[in-house]
Amino acid sequence: MLRFDIVTIFPDVFNSVLNESILKRAQQKKKVRINVHNLRDYTKDKHRKVDDRPFGGGPGMVMGPEPIFRTIQKVKGRRKASVLLMTPSGKPFTQKIAKRLSKEKNLIIICGHYEGVDDRVRQHLVDESISIGDYVLTGGEVPAMVIVDSVTRLIPGVLGKDASLKDESFEHQRLEYPQYTRPANFNGIKVPNVLLSGNHQSIKNWRERQSQARTKKIRPDLLK
Ligand code: ADE
Repeated sequence: MLRFDIVTIFPDVFNSVLNESILKRAQQKKKVRINVHNLRDYTKDKHRKVDDRPFGGGPGMVMGPEPIFRTIQKVKGRRKASVLLMTPSGKPFTQKIAKRLSKEKNLIIICGHYEGVDDRVRQHLVDESISIGDYVLTGGEVPAMVIVDSVTRLIPGVLGKDASLKDESFEHQRLEYPQYTRPANFNGIKVPNVLLSGNHQSIKNWRERQSQARTKKIRPDLLK
């Protein structure tokens, strides 16, 4: 079982996403355990303060080291765990990283906020800083959900038996071919004939060509 511990100042936002559908079933089947910790529960002052003004000046607030170190120490205990920090200045997240993480036993995910996190956290506590893409979100909560979701579905037994992890986009550095289902004719918009032909070799070739063409058009960088 892979255990996730998420450290956040907005614990409630995780309820909906983690407790529906595949992530819900993965927890019920004991493939993963997902604990969410409120960073403010680890503060010691009356106002449960987690941030302060940046040394050296500048706009915004910085998340301070004390409650974060305290939380991680408590959550980690004696277990060995990889600590991930969600930040736009991290390493770009990929399917390859998701695969590697899916083989770990304990992942602790810190959700960054405000103008950032005191860098001593990154230097002394964090094993890996991760960004989910070249854009800036309001906080690390959505990125943490992205990690939990993409990693969990790779754990053996989480998806159904015939789930096609092999054919997926990125698995071979290619985008997936287009898929269709019934009706074969929707308001005059028809499904490609080859898919109705029953000729498995032709279907395979057609999908291969589609996948190639789509990748060339939308993600030429993957073909390099
Ligand atoms: N926090 C804000 N933006 C982010 C991003 N793109 N990736 C990870 N954490 C973030």
